[in-house]
Amino acid sequence: EDIEIEKGNLTLIFDRYKDRYAILPKEKGWQTENLYLYQGYWYPSKYIISIANVMASQDTFQANPNDIYLATSPKSGTTWIKALTFAIVNRTKYKKNSLSTHLLLVSNPHDCLPYIESEILRNKPTYMTENSPRIFATHIPYSSLPQSIIDYGCRIVYMCRNPKDVFVSLFHFTNKLREEYLGFLKFEEAFKMFCEGVTPCGPNWDHVTGYYEAGLKHPTRILFLTYENMSMDTTNNVIHLAEFLGYPFTKEEEAAGEVEEIVRMCSFENLKEVNKHGNFREGVPNHAFFREGKVGDWNNHLTDEMSQILDQITKEKFDVYEMAE
Ligand code: A3P
Repeated sequence: EDIEIEKGNLTLIFDRYKDRYAILPKEKGWQTENLYLYQGYWYPSKYIISIANVMASQDTFQANPNDIYLATSPKSGTTWIKALTFAIVNRTKYKKNSLSTHLLLVSNPHDCLPYIESEILRNKPTYMTENSPRIFATHIPYSSLPQSIIDYGCRIVYMCRNPKDVFVSLFHFTNKLREEYLGFLKFEEAFKMFCEGVTPCGPNWDHVTGYYEAGLKHPTRILFLTYENMSMDTTNNVIHLAEFLGYPFTKEEEAAGEVEEIVRMCSFENLKEVNKHGNFREGVPNHAFFREGKVGDWNNHLTDEMSQILDQITKEKFDVYEMAE
């Protein structure tokens, strides 16, 4: 029944916003036929981050002051940060002896924590923790977030990733889920689109610098993480993340190995195994979110020339922040 309601709302939202987005500049899409340019970023006509969902989020989503948002550009580690956050926040609920019932051991992290963009489709919000804060994920760029999130100065965790790995990840994800009638998206074509910034919620670099700049202005409000650093030292990042979320680990918990337990539970290997079967949404298999889970897989896919081109763009966009490697 819930799904029916959602579908009904989805149709309503598409109908309501169609006139507004149909006139926007458009380009060929990745998973979908088109991407539309709205407030400086490209959005598909379908899926979680559809242009209509973004517009509807801006119109209807209402933040609470103590909400926390997990923001990412697609393919930058959303699934991982959702899993870690859910595990940290709910760790007392799932005591050691009831670990076998842990939601993360039986479902996709995307079913554990919703996106703003999908939450607005529901008649009843699905994620209400017994305790504040509420936690939502989002792919919406900082400059397009629903105004109440900015006005309240809500806490935001932002995770970014080396654009070269984002591109490779997006390329594979796209071809797994692309509408059949569109055929296979060729690597060279996808590369060109990525470089031009024409990607879902792209340009990728602008998405990152938007949150990064906001973080410079509000350092206590925005926690800026990278996939690479998270991979290199997951334990310390998880300790830090727990503090930021307001669920710090006690000395006893640390001594009892609870941080490592969460790191292990949310590891790529473990989540990939849990999500071997089943679908996340209609036509989206759970396993699509777990491919390689490595830093530097771009090495196996990009030519030297492609790598240099992306390095150059990244340097130009990130250098002022000393973010380029
Ligand atoms: P690859 O395609 O490079 O393997 P998102 O969650 O934002 O959609 O990003 C997906 C990327 O994160 C994929 O990268 C996926 O394999 C990787 N990923 C998913 N779960 C992970 C985890 N628990 N730890 C590390 N990486 C993970």
